[in-house]
Amino acid sequence: MDKDKYYDMFEYVENLLSKYDLQSGSAKNKINYNRMEHTKRVYKWMLKLYHEYDDKDLIDIDSLKIATIFHDSGYGHIERCDHALMGAKICRKYLSEHNYPIEKIDFICDLIQNHSNKESLMDDIPAELILLMESDLLDDTGAHGIVMDVWVSALSDNPTFESILEHIEKFTYNIMQDNPMRTPAGKRIWNEKLKITNEFYYAYKNDLCN
Ligand SMILES: [Fe+2]
Repeated sequence: MDKDKYYDMFEYVENLLSKYDLQSGSAKNKINYNRMEHTKRVYKWMLKLYHEYDDKDLIDIDSLKIATIFHDSGYGHIERCDHALMGAKICRKYLSEHNYPIEKIDFICDLIQNHSNKESLMDDIPAELILLMESDLLDDTGAHGIVMDVWVSALSDNPTFESILEHIEKFTYNIMQDNPMRTPAGKRIWNEKLKITNEFYYAYKNDLCN
């Protein structure tokens, strides 16, 4: 990545999240889940969805990039709190110190504050919020979701091939069946992930003669 202002923001957030990521896993069933790596993957999904979005002129891509980088920065806060609200506060401080106009700060911080409210994805919300929520939802799904399921279930007491299959069925397989996406690109990518999930699940189930 070029050393631009976004690079500086990534570094800033990585620094905030470093403590959380060192004791990683507490929020993700004791696996070595790195919130910064998640942020980078969400950023990658966001760029992909943006490039496929028809009305690019209507998207404030600068605000969307900044909101994506900071969307989970609130996890870096030691005390338990609403991470989206805390992330918005952290971002507001950063952008104020870097002399961003107040209307832009308000818009970006609204995106961060509302990104967890996935039930509102079909509501009348800014396109930037749709792309941020969809990008966040796409991470940890499909093939990646299955790997996480295997990792988590293998850490349980006396894991078996059957218990791992059950875990995949309970989480990634079930979650993937309903496509929550709103944009055409989001829907298509989700369906591609669903196909891989179903193929893997039934192939593995067949291997175990279940
Ligand atoms: Fe996230």
